Amino acid sequence: MSGELTSVALDGTIFSTLKAEAPDALLALIGLHAADPRPTKIDVGVGVFRDATGATPVFAAVKEAELWLAQTQLSKSYLGPEGDVRFTELLAELALGRRTGGSRDLVGLQTPGGTGALRLGAELLARAAPGRSIWVGTPTWANHVPLLAGAGLAVRPHRFFDPEESDLDFAAMMIDLGAAKPGDILLLHGCCHNPTGVSFSLSEWQAIAALCAERGLLPFVDLAYHGLGQDIETDVAGVRLLVESVPAAIVAYSCDKNFGLYRDRVGAIWVKAPTSQVDAVRSNLYALARINWSMPPDHGAAVVRLILDTPELRADWEAELGAMAARIADLRERLAAANPRFAPLGRQQGMFAMLPLGPAAVTALRADHGIYMAGNGRINIAGLGEATVNRFVAACAPYLGTKPSPVQQPPDD
Ligand code: LMR
Repeated sequence: MSGELTSVALDGTIFSTLKAEAPDALLALIGLHAADPRPTKIDVGVGVFRDATGATPVFAAVKEAELWLAQTQLSKSYLGPEGDVRFTELLAELALGRRTGGSRDLVGLQTPGGTGALRLGAELLARAAPGRSIWVGTPTWANHVPLLAGAGLAVRPHRFFDPEESDLDFAAMMIDLGAAKPGDILLLHGCCHNPTGVSFSLSEWQAIAALCAERGLLPFVDLAYHGLGQDIETDVAGVRLLVESVPAAIVAYSCDKNFGLYRDRVGAIWVKAPTSQVDAVRSNLYALARINWSMPPDHGAAVVRLILDTPELRADWEAELGAMAARIADLRERLAAANPRFAPLGRQQGMFAMLPLGPAAVTALRADHGIYMAGNGRINIAGLGEATVNRFVAACAPYLGTKPSPVQQPPDD
């Protein structure tokens, strides 16, 4: 018996080689907040929308569609790796202004949430070009880098956010992307950037589209907050412009927030590719879906399909989504007015903002005030209420500016 076999046998199992992973810091906040008995606690942690009472309600249109489904659905038999085709088609029209059915250069597939779409896109890219560079602005959603690197892409950071000004640093971003090589991939947030809330103007989207087209970069767009910025048309104007400007692009879409379907895991991926490559892209997407989850969960996608296909439900959903965006915009205005250090929040969009708070301040705010935010100073603005904004601002005030500014250096080549 070899030495290796002996040690496995002595340790009991193959798992003896695994090292314990730290729990996901953001998701851990859910439990910490729940266990805090203080009635004054404030949850600005994980990114779920909250109404004025602090609840994350089911959309009225979702409830209607679910009732209808319960009464009429006759089978729950398999659909196939592509999922609900009509759902993906209607969502493509909503997001990209295009129909997958009538398009010869666009492939769409239903996925388990936006994360499923991101992972499928990353695996498709890694299959096509193992180890290819993907440029990612910092900071970004905490799951992006492990997900992309885990799929086999080489993550290259680029500057994006100026923490001193709490604002977009577009000039630095474009300088860093000057080092990108033809065929590299560029990860972008479609709207309502997570975690900073900054967004590109239409002219900045035009500059990004020109860069991608001229240098042969493939944009990979994460669109997880559609409709929570300004409205469902304006929020995707930049993404549409970008997708139309390049021969190949990927868009990963999540219905978690804008349909409130978080735990039902509803998302989609679209890949734009030259017509001659579309069949290969489609068959590889189907094969990757099959080996990952075989077929996506149906219920939430069927609900979204019904909403988008039924004028009354759709109008109802749009109105509720519009009210959510208005509530977030109102809270942003209140925060901006309450303290000059919060002024940039009034110019930004979506649920998130990143405050200039260091880790010690984040910990002290939790211990002393029951304020639960992500360790990097990100807050979910929807977790605040008209009654708590001022208390929140007053608690943060002594700590603002305590975040050590990361040294922003162009990535080495
Ligand atoms: C967030 O950023 O808080 C949400 O997207 C939830 C998550 O999965 O991280």
